[in-house]
Amino acid sequence: MTKLMLVHAAEIATPTGKEAVSGSAMNQLQVIHDGAVVIEAGIIQAVGPTETILKNYDSSQYSVIDATNQSIVPGFVDSHTHFVFGGYRPDEFLMRLSGKSYMEIMEAGGGIENTVQATRSSSFDELYQSGFERLDEMLAFGVTTVEGKSGYGLDHDNEIKQLGVMQKLNASHPVDVVSTFLGAHAVPREFAGRNSDYIDFLISDVLPEVASQKLADYCDAFCEKGVISIDDSRRLLAKAKALGMRLKLHADEIEQLGGAELAAELGAASADHLLEASDTGIGRLAEADVVATLLPATAFCLNKPYAPARKMIDQGCAVALASDLNPGSCFTGSVPLIFSLACIYMKMSVAEALTAFTLNGAAALNRADRIGSIEVGKEADLLLLKYPSYSYLVYKTAVNCVDRVIKKGKVIKN
Ligand code: NIG
Ligand code: FE
Repeated sequence: MTKLMLVHAAEIATPTGKEAVSGSAMNQLQVIHDGAVVIEAGIIQAVGPTETILKNYDSSQYSVIDATNQSIVPGFVDSHTHFVFGGYRPDEFLMRLSGKSYMEIMEAGGGIENTVQATRSSSFDELYQSGFERLDEMLAFGVTTVEGKSGYGLDHDNEIKQLGVMQKLNASHPVDVVSTFLGAHAVPREFAGRNSDYIDFLISDVLPEVASQKLADYCDAFCEKGVISIDDSRRLLAKAKALGMRLKLHADEIEQLGGAELAAELGAASADHLLEASDTGIGRLAEADVVATLLPATAFCLNKPYAPARKMIDQGCAVALASDLNPGSCFTGSVPLIFSLACIYMKMSVAEALTAFTLNGAAALNRADRIGSIEVGKEADLLLLKYPSYSYLVYKTAVNCVDRVIKKGKVIKN
C-alpha cells in the first residue's frame, strides 16, 4: 500500500465541498500556509499545517515529498474535450486567419465533416495511439481527469469505435477519461438535408447500444443554427435521459438559440460554450444548478467575444473552465492559456478560475464528491506547482507551472 506525505508546501490552495460552488463562493478558497497532506491507498487522510500533521502522523511510515517553495492545488479536471480524432485541419486555421468564419468553412463542406472522414478511415489502434499521446500532453499541464466526446464517427460503427477507444484509454492511461456520446455533433453527408432523420437514426440505432453497453456516461449535442436544432436536441437528450444517461449541451456558442434554457429544462449536468447565452438562459442555469462550462481557448482561436463569466458568477451560476481541445475550432489543451484568458479577459479572479478548473469541472462530470478539492476522503489528485502560490497560475502568464502530478496517491509525472 502506498503511503505518501507531502510536507512544507508554501501554500495549499483548494476549493471545498462535494458539489459545484456557485456565485460569490467561487472566490473562497481554503489556503493553508506551510501545509501538509497525508495520503493512504490513494485517498486523502489529512490536510493541515505541517506542524500539526507531523505531530499526529509518524512520517517514518510514509514516503515523504518535501514541497518547500512549492504550492499544491487539486488536479485539473478538463470537463469538455474532443481529444480522440483522426487527421488535422491546419488549412482551416489559415482560412480563418484570412477572414473566413468557422461556420462558412463548415457550410462549404469542411469543418467537422473533414475530421469525420479522417476518423472513419483511422483504425482503432491509430486512434488509441494518438489519444494516448494527447492524454500525456494534458497530464503535463496537470489534468488528472478529462472528458472526451465521440462525434467524429457519425455512423453506428465509428461512433462506437471512438467510444471504445476512450474506454480503453481510461483503463490504460493514468488520467481518468469520462466519455460522452456526441453523435449529434453534425449531420453527416449521408443524411444531408435530412437532419431530423439523422436524429431518428441516432435514437433508434446508436443511443440504445451506447446506453446499454455503458459506452458513455453523458449524451451531448451541438445545438446550433444550421447544425442540430433545439427540437432535435431536446428529442435526443430526452431519450438519452430516459435511458439513464446524464446530459451536456453545446449551447449558444455562435447564435443565441435558447440552448442554455434547454439545458436547464432537461436538468443537464452542464451547458457549454454559452458565448451568446441570453440573460434568461443564464438565470435558468443558476436556478437549475446546471454548471456553465466556459471554453475561452475556443473563443480565442475563433477570435470571438468571451462568454460573460462575470455576469454568470454574479448571477449565481457555477462556472467551470475547460479546454474544448479539438482539431477544428481549438487545437490546444493549454491550461495556462485558459487561466490567463479567464482572468485577464473574462475578469475572473485567480481563485474563481481555480475553482472553475477543479471542483466545478468535477461537478460538470458529477464527480465532485470524489475529486476536485484537497479534502479528507477525496481521491488524492494533486499538483505541485513550481512556485509558492496558486496566483502564479496567472502571474506566470500562459506558461506551465506544474512540476509534479499525483494521481490517486501516485506520482505520475515528475
Ligand atoms: O466544441 N462546436 C462544436 N464542436 C467543437 C468543434 C469541433 C470541430 O470543429 O471539429 C467545439 O468547438
Ligand atoms: Fe466542444
